[in-house]
Amino acid sequence: MTTNKITVAVPKADGNTNPIIHKATVSAPTNIACIKYWGKADSHYNTPINDSLSLTLDQSDLRAVTSASASLAFDKDRLWLNGSEEVGAASSRRFRACVDGVRALATEKIDPDTKEVIVSKDDWKKMHVYIASYNTFPTAAGLASSAAGYAALVAALVELFGAKESYPGEFTAIARQGSGSACRSLYGGFVAWRAGGEKSDWSDSIAEQVADEAHWGEVRAVICVVSDAKKETSSTAGMSTSVATSELLAFRAKEVVSKRMKIIEEAIKAKDFEAFGKVTMMDSNQFHATCLDTYPPIFYMNDVSRSIVQLVHRYNDWAGEIRAAYTFDAGPNAVLYTLDKHVIELLALVLKYYPCESEDLMGDYVNNKDMVSKALAF
Ligand code: ADP
Ligand code: DP6
Ligand code: CO
Repeated sequence: MTTNKITVAVPKADGNTNPIIHKATVSAPTNIACIKYWGKADSHYNTPINDSLSLTLDQSDLRAVTSASASLAFDKDRLWLNGSEEVGAASSRRFRACVDGVRALATEKIDPDTKEVIVSKDDWKKMHVYIASYNTFPTAAGLASSAAGYAALVAALVELFGAKESYPGEFTAIARQGSGSACRSLYGGFVAWRAGGEKSDWSDSIAEQVADEAHWGEVRAVICVVSDAKKETSSTAGMSTSVATSELLAFRAKEVVSKRMKIIEEAIKAKDFEAFGKVTMMDSNQFHATCLDTYPPIFYMNDVSRSIVQLVHRYNDWAGEIRAAYTFDAGPNAVLYTLDKHVIELLALVLKYYPCESEDLMGDYVNNKDMVSKALAF
């Protein structure tokens, strides 16, 4: 997470420097799940029916940038998303859970020079907040904008209020109440969200890092933007209908996911791309099968998405090993996980079948070895 903490004194008309606006700006990347979260066990606490696991991407392409400000001068909480005010959003349960949850963990702000208390814990409670966020990638299109968005919101509020966790993972439990997938974006690398449920307040439904960014640095994500349109069925609404109607989803949560979590965690530890890729593709397919099994059915993938699935299988068959693994969230856009040594080959293949004339993606990649994700606009 990139952090930039600023405190701005705004002069009043009479020339005084009160009221102060306290401000923090944070950028959080998206994460794309290999073992999918789909279905809530408790909709109030926003907890899942099964564990899930994802990779947090780096900051290169897909991230949310959020500024959080607090001041006694603000007369209500407000939220702007991608430049437009979201009227009423500041009173939504998700937003309130994040703001009130982080503020409850606030510490007093001390002047580093005079050691005076500038803002007491009670002062923070008297202030309203202004939040301004923008995404560097399509919002609500199945590329986990809610994950990056609520992770950036919680991280910005943590900076603003100088909040401290009372137990490890507490911030992830707060982010999860904004959007479930957001809890995994607070950490880098490979991150698991443990469903929890032993504790009555669901404080054990938290994310934890399985392996950090450096552990398997050869893994790359190629993001194929099939459509940047806003999806018709939000993730929240889709999974609620699935829980209510899909027997396949109930079976998956009870019988399948825990086995897959073991397989993928072992594959990550052993850096075994064959096992990692296979379970990732199978889990994406099962998630979309539960969407089809939902009544009425939900179609997130389209014909282009399905042609990418076929292309990846043909590529892997040709190679005699798994070199690329697709996964699709709740939208038509493909994320292809691969290893650095196969990226050029994979990009060449994708660009052959889905030409993209406007960008020199391969040249770009060759010139920027640090890049771990690249958007391809078909
Ligand atoms: P996605 O697949 O993009 O995560 P969702 O349906 O899960 O789609 O969530 C999209 C919603 O998440 C948006 O309509 C908006 O309410 C919220 N959201 C997206 N980005 C942000 C952000 N940067 N800050 C706050 N909320 C956001
Ligand atoms: C398919 O986290 O967006 O991307 O908790 O209702 O906000 P809410 O849902 P959200 O769902 C993500 C679903 C998914 C799979 C995943 O990220 O694990
Ligand atoms: Co989402």
